Amino acid sequence: MNRENFGSKLGAILAAAGSAVGLGNVWRFPIETGQNGGAAFIIIYIMCIITLGLPIMISEFLIGRYTHSNTAGAYRILSDGSPWKWVGRMGVFTGWFILCYYAVVGGWTMHYTFLSLTNAFAGVPATQFGQIFEDFTANPWIPSLWFILFIGITHFIITRGVQSGIERFSKIMMPTLFIITLLLTFCSLSLPGAADGIEFLLKPDWSKVNSTVVLAAVGQAFYSLSLGMGCLCTYASYFDEKTPLAKTATHVAIIDTFIAVMAGFIIFPSMFNIGMNPNEVGAGAGLAFVSLPNVFQQALSGSPLLAILFSTLFYFLLFVAALTSAMSLHEVATAYITEEFNLSRRKGTLIITGTVLILGLLCSLSFGPLSGIQLFGRNIFSLFDDFSGMVLLPLGGMLISIFAGWRLDRQLYRNEISNGGDLRTPYFKALIFSLRYIAPLAIGLVFLDQQGAFNFLKH
Ligand code: TRP
Repeated sequence: MNRENFGSKLGAILAAAGSAVGLGNVWRFPIETGQNGGAAFIIIYIMCIITLGLPIMISEFLIGRYTHSNTAGAYRILSDGSPWKWVGRMGVFTGWFILCYYAVVGGWTMHYTFLSLTNAFAGVPATQFGQIFEDFTANPWIPSLWFILFIGITHFIITRGVQSGIERFSKIMMPTLFIITLLLTFCSLSLPGAADGIEFLLKPDWSKVNSTVVLAAVGQAFYSLSLGMGCLCTYASYFDEKTPLAKTATHVAIIDTFIAVMAGFIIFPSMFNIGMNPNEVGAGAGLAFVSLPNVFQQALSGSPLLAILFSTLFYFLLFVAALTSAMSLHEVATAYITEEFNLSRRKGTLIITGTVLILGLLCSLSFGPLSGIQLFGRNIFSLFDDFSGMVLLPLGGMLISIFAGWRLDRQLYRNEISNGGDLRTPYFKALIFSLRYIAPLAIGLVFLDQQGAFNFLKH
């Protein structure tokens, strides 16, 4: 079969960065930083990226680029008939599974962009934002329609293929995202009281650092870089032989970290401006859809037009970030189904979109009409979220690092990262060491910690 590649190195970097930069950067990283010691957390986070994130990212790139195949095919080719082939299949499943609920949140970002644009938040009392969000998600129609629109846009891009779909749109959307981020940062930093927000984010408080904080940094690094399943592996299968894997991975990690830190500069100065204590708001949907609309409204109450602009741009930023990540999730499953079952891209994309539509609607409706369906005290949406975040991703990440560190042929590994001997690889030994020992151990500890294994140490 004739396989497309990305047309340029820049396209490859922007597509992979698009996968990495997502909701995790905007609504998880800033709050985790604020709560876990500010700059101390950022330093630990960057160390996690270097010692653990980069080695795994480079390995996923390598597995994809070497085989030029979808993730399931890639692991099958490299596993010589051993059960390691299941790692790839699990990666495909994970991507498809995450997409089902991620696209629901993508729909929410569109709704909030729309609300901001139509000035629906003006004059709303601070206490009402929680209710607005609850009423919206419980509504049987509105969130579902936004979700359908969001997955429809994703479908439209993916069905156009690698170069005129993913690459072309990444080249438009990533610079847009970058510019909006800088605009919002600039605006937020010029608010009165911004200095307190900067101090909150940047003052290292090493007294807060303990094992839990380190594990939070590991988990965040992992999620933020889109590691542990098939996203980066699938995108790398469209890299050409000249793409420098380690350098591309480094660029992606730098872009991802930069946007995450900037999100902190957008959020905290405006929070301090209205006297809100960031330690009292949680991360996640509550922050993005309940606290922040209120923060923006109040911080910019002097100028209604600026309030509309700031809020609209912020939710549009969330939307673009979510869309480029959703594209990468969709592509994992689409590449799999088209290649393994020999379908046209159009048909493959349709099948994936169709299945995601059904399950995504269940996730979307689980805040309203289907809220009665619960398992382990979670609704359908949380089941998808927690099962992928707490089980599938850590498991995938651990298996990938073990596979790359212990099972892949060293010569093959070295040959690929040096592009057949063209590039110097002084980091090779350290990289293998991390894949063999550090990464599996760190991920294993995060996993056990999430299951509550260390709770007895925390009192
Ligand atoms: N990295 C994205 C974010 O920060 C989310 C994401 C996209 C992801 N694809 C992934 C996370 C694959 C883990 C694995 O929001």
